Amino acid sequence: MTHFRPIPLLVPHLPDRHALAPYLEQIDHNRHYSNFGPLNHALEARLASLFEEHATHAVHIATTSSATLGLELTLHNLDLPPGSGVVVPALTFVASLTAILRAGYVPVIADIDPDNWLITPEIAAEAATKTGARAVLAVAAFGQPQNTQRWSAFQQKTGIKVVIDAAGAFGSQWTEAADIPVVYSMHATKSLAAGEGGFVASGNSDLIDEVRQLSNFGINLDTHAGLPVGHLSQVGSNAKLSEYHAAVAHASLDQWPAQAALRQRIHRTYRQTLDASCGEHLQWQAGAILAAPTTFCVGMAQEARARLEQLCHARGIATRRWYQPLLHQHAAKVEPTIKLPVPVAESVASGLIGLPFSSFMTQDDITHVAEAVGLATANTRIQSSLTLDSHHG
Ligand SMILES: Cc1ncc(COP(=O)(O)O)c(C=O)c1O
Repeated sequence: MTHFRPIPLLVPHLPDRHALAPYLEQIDHNRHYSNFGPLNHALEARLASLFEEHATHAVHIATTSSATLGLELTLHNLDLPPGSGVVVPALTFVASLTAILRAGYVPVIADIDPDNWLITPEIAAEAATKTGARAVLAVAAFGQPQNTQRWSAFQQKTGIKVVIDAAGAFGSQWTEAADIPVVYSMHATKSLAAGEGGFVASGNSDLIDEVRQLSNFGINLDTHAGLPVGHLSQVGSNAKLSEYHAAVAHASLDQWPAQAALRQRIHRTYRQTLDASCGEHLQWQAGAILAAPTTFCVGMAQEARARLEQLCHARGIATRRWYQPLLHQHAAKVEPTIKLPVPVAESVASGLIGLPFSSFMTQDDITHVAEAVGLATANTRIQSSLTLDSHHG
């Protein structure tokens, strides 16, 4: 019998101690460990100039201790009446839901597009008409970027505020529209990894100043604010990025172009291998080629997924049903929540599976996974695409 080497779902790839050393030496020298220190300041400036390469306006950055806190503070800053509805797609990580609730709003769980698996302005408009929702948290699911220009047009036309949760989309999602804030994660599993961390990017410098103030408890540090420095201006939290995390983010950013190219190459080969062995049984998320993929998700018939999970378990290949249960299924005990029908999300999720992916994957690993996928999908049909066809018309 063939012996299979266990293949983990994800292997984080952070800079090693040698790459970190120059930044840690700066910390030793500065003796500044948090509270908007020099490394954090330099990181925000580096990120801003990177984002400005993809925008026709100035981009401002506020780092946070996680994307979740970045989302919470950005949503809080929308200053909507407590209990306002915020539309969110059913297919996303739970942090999108918890951020809305903790900002004092009510999640309105809506459907996704059958091809790119994202919430669209059309879906959000329909959800807002039905429920009176005042904002949308549009998610760049699995790192697939949202179209900021289209969301900006939606925001201007409807007056409904839009925030983009691009936690896993660094390098693929930019801030082309100045009025749409975008939130990113620097968690260890992301392509720009600091261990923990996040940041908010926006063309609106006032919004970024507010998020920064909220990340520091809400304390006023502005001598021109008409309020004494050190006084509480609003109710924030402690969501500051420490200098140590900023150091890791700098070293990660140094390595990012090489990391991104490697991830892209592995992803391409992986997908080609699967397509060659059983492509007719698989369904992929439509959209842009990702700059630095961090997950590998594929759709198949529900019974094929069940077979694949068993096979993978037996062969030591780790899998995960990413973003499942869907938000409305989690929401059984999480109130208040408005649950709209989400037939497309349910159909997509019924056959969706996350396969192992990391920058350490070898051709052998890919071959082992492809063999299991080929066996599991043999003689199956992609039910989900048949089901989905009915939603096109
Ligand atoms: C869509 C989405 N939103 C938010 C988060 C939370 O990010 P963080 O771990 O930085 O809080 C994640 C994490 O994977 C995510 O995938």
